[in-house]
Parts: sequence; structure tokens; C-alpha cells
Amino acid sequence: MSVRWHSYPDPRATAEACAHHILALLEDSLAGNDQATLAVSGGSTPKLLFEHLVAARFRWDRVHLFWVDERAVPPSDPQSNYRLANESFIGPAGFPRRNVHRIPAELVAERAAEHYADDIRRFFGIEEGDLPHFDVVQQGLGADAHTASLFPGEPRIEDRDCVAAAVHVEKLGQWRITLLPGVLLAARHSVFLVTGADKAEAVGAVFHEEYQPSRFPAQVVSHHGRRVAWFLDQAAARLMEE
Ligand code: 6PG
Repeated sequence: MSVRWHSYPDPRATAEACAHHILALLEDSLAGNDQATLAVSGGSTPKLLFEHLVAARFRWDRVHLFWVDERAVPPSDPQSNYRLANESFIGPAGFPRRNVHRIPAELVAERAAEHYADDIRRFFGIEEGDLPHFDVVQQGLGADAHTASLFPGEPRIEDRDCVAAAVHVEKLGQWRITLLPGVLLAARHSVFLVTGADKAEAVGAVFHEEYQPSRFPAQVVSHHGRRVAWFLDQAAARLMEE
């Protein structure tokens, strides 16, 4: 397990460095394989990341795109993580549609999670009970130290066996579909992109508080991920000693 963190002056510089890191990891994966797998998060932070991934003019036909989580809304909904990626990344980059593994979040959340887990198992050629090894999983961090859609108090934070699940986020009054911790931990590389002063306390807690994943869900990966890299802007890194 290795954990490294890097800080940059502002969100754009942070997203650019994160994009270059992800592209280098994908190139490494492709050195020995015909295709690579990337799972991205949603929210607002990835927009700048997507812009830099598009600008790189990478050969996306060798990459299969998945999501870390999705809101239980149709793909046209402004809250949809797929819509953000489609508008900022998939479309502008000319990402082959056959390589895009959208979570069918227009379905009832439990059905969407089942369909998504089936899609993942089919793509990775694994059986029920096995876990996929994504080459790169890009994660964000909420101001409450949630990651994916694993929020504080979510019982599935202990799940190390299942691929994806529907979770109800009480504080948001919203259903979501999320990859579960076992899959996040099975990733070859975990890449956190976190910017903004509102995240500084959460970053500090994840790194400096004792291990309490129910309280700080992102600690599951920061403490037990295989290779974990954090890309922070200076505002989010305020409580990190240099
Ligand atoms: C989501 C994300 C979630 C996100 C954090 C940070 O669906 O919202 O996957 O885990 O990474 O909530 O969100 P922001 O980038 O909007 O701060």
C-alpha cells in the first residue's frame, strides 16, 4: 500500500496534474494490455479533469469507461454524473460509445445496481463473488469525508465482497448507485482529486484522525488502497503539513 499526496496552487493546475497522472497510468496499463479500464466520479470537481483529459487527445478507443457512482436520476438530469461526463469528456473526446459503461440510473436504484454489477462482471469475465480490478479509479471527497456514494454511517462501508449497490443517502434524500469498498480496494490505482477550502477539514480528518471508516469513509481507500495518489489544491491541503 502506498499513499502519496501532491498539492498545487489552484483547481485548474490540480486537475491538469491529475489528468497527466491518470493518462500515464493508463499508458502503463496499455503497455501490456489491449485495453485499460477507468472509473470516474461525479459531482463538480471532475469537470476540469475531463477538460484536460480531452485536451490530451488520448487514444480513448483503448479505454473502457465506468463510473464510481451515480445519482438515481435519468441521464439527462442535471444531477447525472453521466451527463457531466458525456458533455465534458465522452462527447468532446470522441470516446467510443461501445466503451462507455453507463449506470442505467433511470431504473429503480436496486435494478440499476444489479444491471451495473452484471455489466462489470461480464466485461471483466468474472463470476458472482469475484471482484474486478480496475486499472484506475478516480475518486472525489465530500466535505463530510464521503467518497463514491459511501457517506458517513453507511453500513455498506464494511462490504468487501459485492460489486455495486443502491444506497439511500438520508442527508440528501436521494438514492444512489455506488461501487462498494471491495471494488475500490481492488483497483490497481486509486486517484483522488480534491479541491476547495470546504474540503480541507475532511482531507485533514482522512489523513490525521484515527481509522474510523464509518465516520470518514474515504479512509477505507486512503488506508488500505493498493496505490493511492491524492491531488489537492492548496486550499484543500490547508491542514496537510508539507
Ligand atoms: C458524486 C460523487 C461524489 C463526489 C464528492 C465530491 O456523485 O457526487 O461521486 O463522491 O466525488 O461528493 O463532489 P464535488 O466534486 O461536487 O465536491
